[in-house]
Amino acid sequence: MMRTTTTTWPRLLCSCRFLLFILVVTAFSQHQQHLAFASSGSGSRRVVTSLPGFDGPLPFHLETGYVEVDEDNGTELFYYFVESESESGSGGADAPFLLWFTGGDRCSVFSGLAYEIGPIRFVLEPYNGSLPRLRYNPNSWSKVSHILFVDSPVGAGFSFSRQPKGYEVGDASASLQLHEFLIKWFRNHPKYLASPFYIGADSYAGKLVPFLAQMVSEDIEAGRGPLLNLKGYLVGNPITGESVDVNSRVPCAHGFGIISDQLYETILRHCQGEDYTNPANALCTQALGIFNNLISEVQQAQILLDTCVYASPVPKPNSRTDGSDGRKILIMEEIRVGQLNHPPARPPFGCITYGYYLSYFWANDRRTRDALGIKKGSVDEWVRCHDGDLPYSNDLQSSIKYHRNLTSRGYRALVYSGDHDLLVPHLGTQAWVRSLNFPVADDWRAWHLDGQSAGFTISYSNNMTFATIKGGGHTAPEYEPERCFAMFSRWILNRPL
Ligand SMILES: *[C@@H]1O[C@H](CO)[C@@H](O)[C@H](O)[C@H]1NC(C)=O
Ligand SMILES: *[C@@H]1O[C@H](CO)[C@@H](O)[C@H](O)[C@H]1NC(C)=O
Ligand SMILES: *[C@@H]1O[C@H](CO)[C@@H](O)[C@H](O)[C@H]1NC(C)=O
Ligand SMILES: *[C@@H]1O[C@H](CO)[C@@H](O)[C@H](O)[C@H]1NC(C)=O
Repeated sequence: MMRTTTTTWPRLLCSCRFLLFILVVTAFSQHQQHLAFASSGSGSRRVVTSLPGFDGPLPFHLETGYVEVDEDNGTELFYYFVESESESGSGGADAPFLLWFTGGDRCSVFSGLAYEIGPIRFVLEPYNGSLPRLRYNPNSWSKVSHILFVDSPVGAGFSFSRQPKGYEVGDASASLQLHEFLIKWFRNHPKYLASPFYIGADSYAGKLVPFLAQMVSEDIEAGRGPLLNLKGYLVGNPITGESVDVNSRVPCAHGFGIISDQLYETILRHCQGEDYTNPANALCTQALGIFNNLISEVQQAQILLDTCVYASPVPKPNSRTDGSDGRKILIMEEIRVGQLNHPPARPPFGCITYGYYLSYFWANDRRTRDALGIKKGSVDEWVRCHDGDLPYSNDLQSSIKYHRNLTSRGYRALVYSGDHDLLVPHLGTQAWVRSLNFPVADDWRAWHLDGQSAGFTISYSNNMTFATIKGGGHTAPEYEPERCFAMFSRWILNRPL
């Protein structure tokens, strides 16, 4: 997941903000030494039978907990585990098992749980100071699969480190921590070891999926337990680290009628061989400047939606002012936790991001934290996504070789693209999938739902399926929940789309 208005992925560390962060965390960890954590180590978990804002008992089995992944720094990853709701698989070993995590910048996996593939949704109503309400999502992927949602990398959501150094992670170390997380989690939950195991993520996190899957496959080959029953992986509008992820925005914007033929031709002529995010050639730079202005006119995560104009956030809680520019300003009334420093700007009601806004008030409410078993003093302020305030190193150059390696060894892969995303467009994804050069097994065709095309798909002999989701945005299930649920449930149960 990423914020819908940005066009860049985890930014380079801003040293001034990072220094401030170190100071805050240092002060914070000294404070913490006087706090007794509820428990430490890999064993803390609880069954959650009801959630604040959700009417009645939860109609699905939810467990939350922490797993320690870095002893030196006291790093613990927080998870939400939703057991499969399918009749046959309920609690058993036969339902598939999906590990899911979210992209950047350090977005909480709560995004996956409450906006994309999980069993809860916010009731969309204007925030008035009361706890936002939740409802059940009938298109939850947990209808057919267990889902282990994990806040990763450390610093995302409720995952935390006791030492500031623990937050200094990157693609490789975050993947190693997820690997450690899996080993410890399955040691404590051996009954799920027999389930067909899959790893999934979208956007930036899609870059880590095949890398992590390869680590798991190496354990299996070496006979290192606990032995997971790895079957494959899925990635949605994924980053690979290759330039095609970003460069394909140009032909995509051209095809959608956002840029002119002339600008398209100018960019092709002057940006050949250039890195589009950091071009050296002056004419290319100029043309891409015009390009960026034009695409800023649309919501890049789903080009058909309105762009959201945000009200300015207030500097302090409890202030009640009108903006000097005439815009109304956020009023916070019932925040009960610590000092909240990053209240999100309020989008207009009806904007796609309004649900994100509600999550801040829900997750920072003491009742929610008590229900989820959040450790006191661990994360004072929950934010849906970070904004370059924590260090992260993009140290995995390309995920392509892991895609090739895994799918040549019998693992299944589903690569899907919401076809109205301009952040990681389907054109770029289709191009790298094709470049793996495996023979076509099931040629390009429509796949259907309710007698209508729901997207288009092609499968290759290496068990890799590429599929588009008609009308889907960057995080496709957020925009097209029924189509994505149909796609996922067919694929995970080994049926053709
Ligand atoms: C806010 O709205 C909800 C739902 O409409 C209502 O139940 C609640 O009483 C309202 N809270 C306040 C503080 O007005
Ligand atoms: C944790 O702490 C140790 C020792 O301070 C350090 O070497 C290591 O890199 C840290 N781990 C991470 C993930 O930063
Ligand atoms: C492919 O995977 C196998 C088994 O995990 C591993 O031994 C090999 O080094 C990998 N090859 C590449 C090119 O990464
Ligand atoms: C494709 O996946 C199926 C189901 O897991 C498996 O039985 C088959 O061997 C795989 N095919 C190849 C070519 O690896």
